[in-house]
Amino acid sequence: MSRSAFGHVLNVDDARRAAARRLPRGLFEYIDRGSEDETSIAANRRRLDAIRLAPSVLVDVSRRSLEAEILGHRQPLPLAIAPTAVAGLVWHDGEIALARAAAAAGIPFCVSTQSITPIERIAAESGARLWFQLYVWKNRQRTLALLDRARAAGAETLVLTVDTAVTPNREYNLRNGFGIPLQASVRAGIDLMLHPRWTASVMLRSLIASGVPTYAHYPEEFRTRLGRLALSDELALATDVTWDDVRLLRQRWKGRLVLKGVLRVDDALTALSHGVDAIVVSNHGGRNLDCAPGPTEVLPAIVEAISDRMEILADSGVRRGADIARFLALGASGVLIGRATLYGVAIGGADGAGRVLDLLRHELEVTMGMLGAPGLDALRRCLNKTPAAGPCTPSSGSTDHRLPTNCASAGSI
Ligand code: FNR
Ligand code: LAC
Repeated sequence: MSRSAFGHVLNVDDARRAAARRLPRGLFEYIDRGSEDETSIAANRRRLDAIRLAPSVLVDVSRRSLEAEILGHRQPLPLAIAPTAVAGLVWHDGEIALARAAAAAGIPFCVSTQSITPIERIAAESGARLWFQLYVWKNRQRTLALLDRARAAGAETLVLTVDTAVTPNREYNLRNGFGIPLQASVRAGIDLMLHPRWTASVMLRSLIASGVPTYAHYPEEFRTRLGRLALSDELALATDVTWDDVRLLRQRWKGRLVLKGVLRVDDALTALSHGVDAIVVSNHGGRNLDCAPGPTEVLPAIVEAISDRMEILADSGVRRGADIARFLALGASGVLIGRATLYGVAIGGADGAGRVLDLLRHELEVTMGMLGAPGLDALRRCLNKTPAAGPCTPSSGSTDHRLPTNCASAGSI
């Protein structure tokens, strides 16, 4: 399949709809949905839409550069592909496909602890710059052994996810029957039959090549097929992860250390004092704590408090190049992409994910052109500080009802 096969996919939402048709419902919902009442996903979208970027006119934008520096590397786009568990169920060797798309775009790929493909194969078969995302297991020695393995495979950056202290409450997965371990049921059987392309090209292919998919980073002696319950409590995700673990990881990990899922100024400052290199301001794409604030709400205060002493990345809700511009305008230096590239890989492997990255790049370029921003640095001055017109009540005495003075400005959230 070549990238030109995706000419009809004109935006991330097109890729999402095509992925919904192709994937079994349980798997698609696992990717697409959130937790509890799923207010957080919708709120992330609303908050991004509320950020207005004001163009500077009459600026020469004939040469635009999307070049960014993230964790010491110059790269052609201000992006990284976020860690996503079980991407290898979405497409055969889906993690390798995602990593190849990342390599082609010149951006890093973050391997999840819960990846189906081992980091060694992803490294060997993609040539991508790799980050490794860590979920801490109850057994810390085994966790440290996993880190050594990731480092030996070439991971340059360790991303400790800190926003999943306990298992999130996702009711739709109980209803649709999808979960890890995978469970055989009449409903799952019907789901597979209704999605024959996926069943043949991913599930049967995996079964023939290597048997039932497994979590590739779990130690051999404990590794269970996804179809069976975990054999050991040692590899359950720890619920007692604290700053002591960050201290330990900082001593042990020689590369860059990133905390993913920070939403508070005090936590950002504590990360800084622990020698962390960067944080990802994120609410996990609205998948974990449904009442969490959105990253756009907390970014300005975090950026101000940190004041260039630590790198600040962000994610959650990017579906357009303009969303990337919004995060950068709020002060993030780079943005992680989760679902958007997963939809892409689901419809066409590395080419599908590449198509999504091409679309985001193009949209970001157009947005920057419109804004009179020849480079990413210029985006920060585009944040609209003028109070927005809209449904806010004008304060008494205001004569201009289009510009109510008591309306919160997008720039001050
Ligand atoms: C995730 N995310 C995630 N994060 C993490 O640190 N470790 C993980 O294993 C996973 N797994 C995972 C699976 C799936 C299917 C999704 C969609 C997401 C969260 C991810 O890294 C990122 O924070 C969000 O996806 C960002 O939001 P958007 O871009 O999906 O809106
Ligand atoms: C998720 C976990 C694995 O979001 O982080 O599904």
